[in-house]
Amino acid sequence: MNILILGSGGREHSLAWATLQNPKCDKLIVAPGNAGIAMIADCAALDIMDGAAVIYFCETNSIDFVIIGPEAPLAAGVADDLRGAGFLVFGPSAAAAQLEASKAFTKEICDAANAPTAAYAHFTDHARARAYVAANPAPLVIKADGLAAGKGVIIAMTDEEAAAAVDEMFDGAFGDAGAEVVIEEFMEGEEASFFVLCDGETVLPIGTAQDHKRVGDGDTGPNTGGMGAYSPAPVLTDEIAEKALNEIIRPTMAEMAKRGMPYQGVLYAGLMIEDGQPRLVEYNARFGDPECQVLMMRLGAQAFDLMHAASESRLSDMRVNWGNDHALTIVMAAKGYPGSYEKGSVIKGLDALPEDSKNMTFHAGTTASSGMITATGGRVLNVTARGDTLADARTRAYEMVDQIDWPEGFCRRDIGWRAL
Ligand code: AMP
Ligand code: GLY
Repeated sequence: MNILILGSGGREHSLAWATLQNPKCDKLIVAPGNAGIAMIADCAALDIMDGAAVIYFCETNSIDFVIIGPEAPLAAGVADDLRGAGFLVFGPSAAAAQLEASKAFTKEICDAANAPTAAYAHFTDHARARAYVAANPAPLVIKADGLAAGKGVIIAMTDEEAAAAVDEMFDGAFGDAGAEVVIEEFMEGEEASFFVLCDGETVLPIGTAQDHKRVGDGDTGPNTGGMGAYSPAPVLTDEIAEKALNEIIRPTMAEMAKRGMPYQGVLYAGLMIEDGQPRLVEYNARFGDPECQVLMMRLGAQAFDLMHAASESRLSDMRVNWGNDHALTIVMAAKGYPGSYEKGSVIKGLDALPEDSKNMTFHAGTTASSGMITATGGRVLNVTARGDTLADARTRAYEMVDQIDWPEGFCRRDIGWRAL
């Protein structure tokens, strides 16, 4: 099969890495890709937000199957465009991707599906939102409705912070994404990510993970896209996972199908767990990044068969073969991230690192120039290892990090602490 993966991050590097291990893969192209992906697959400069351009590329390159990595092309309807042109696609329609693209939509679906989540109110009017925060004491969570690259959420621990957050959203700090605002009850507990594949009807769990959203050790400092992850997440026990499936995920999928927008692709449920009860924090319509890297490290070649089956509505025939293993990934980022950072610093020492079924450095924001790898993004590398225990995987991953010579980069030193 000729396969096209859309995206350019560590997530897409790991998707490409797992896909290449599958004998069904004859040719793999990643668009636009990055310097690490270019070492294992062809990369193509392509505007992945332009459905017509992606269709033309698929026609001229005899592509049989397209895997869409990030949320933006999903929300823009690139999966719909491709399906309309007769291509097989892994990724939800724009209508179904509203589960990520609109927080108000998701809250309303959860109400209809009776899925446990934080109590909320939805506002399009600044004064009404201000009146609501005046009447409801902090802590409150203030969210821009639309896609805001993971930055549209403010946790207000005081009434003053809540009022300021509402002002910031309506004053346009998050652009159009903040024209509508959702205000939620603050949920206590421990967060974990649950990943399932859906084919419109069948739901198949493929793994759990825990991300590290804050930039600093001990979960301090500002929020980021994620500074490291591990899988499985022990806080999501089998019993809690079963509850999440029966009370949250399956009812949501049934409600989506009932509304004529069946969900097909990977659904990433962010859960808050307190006293054995999961509640939904958010849905994403894609794999998490860096959670995908640890899932791919554990699933290997079967990940491709599972995605392929989801896109052909064959999930009821599929099983996931889990090893008794653990994977952990450490994000190396440019100093200054998630604020401003320099681009173009040189990363050395990558050639000496092992690359096999247990050790892999996935690239995110890297570029190759004159035979060197340079950092061109905020999150730059995902140093990933698999082991018989989480402690093994972690030791191995930090050993690899310590072999990388990149003075302009940094990482957290405590990835996995909650589970260890
Ligand atoms: P979201 O983009 O909705 O996932 O929010 C980003 C992060 O904010 C989540 O991963 C949580 O850590 C936190 N968060 C969001 N909503 C809530 C809530 N209702 N209660 C507590 N924490 C929340
Ligand atoms: N790591 C969090 C996310 O992908 O949204």
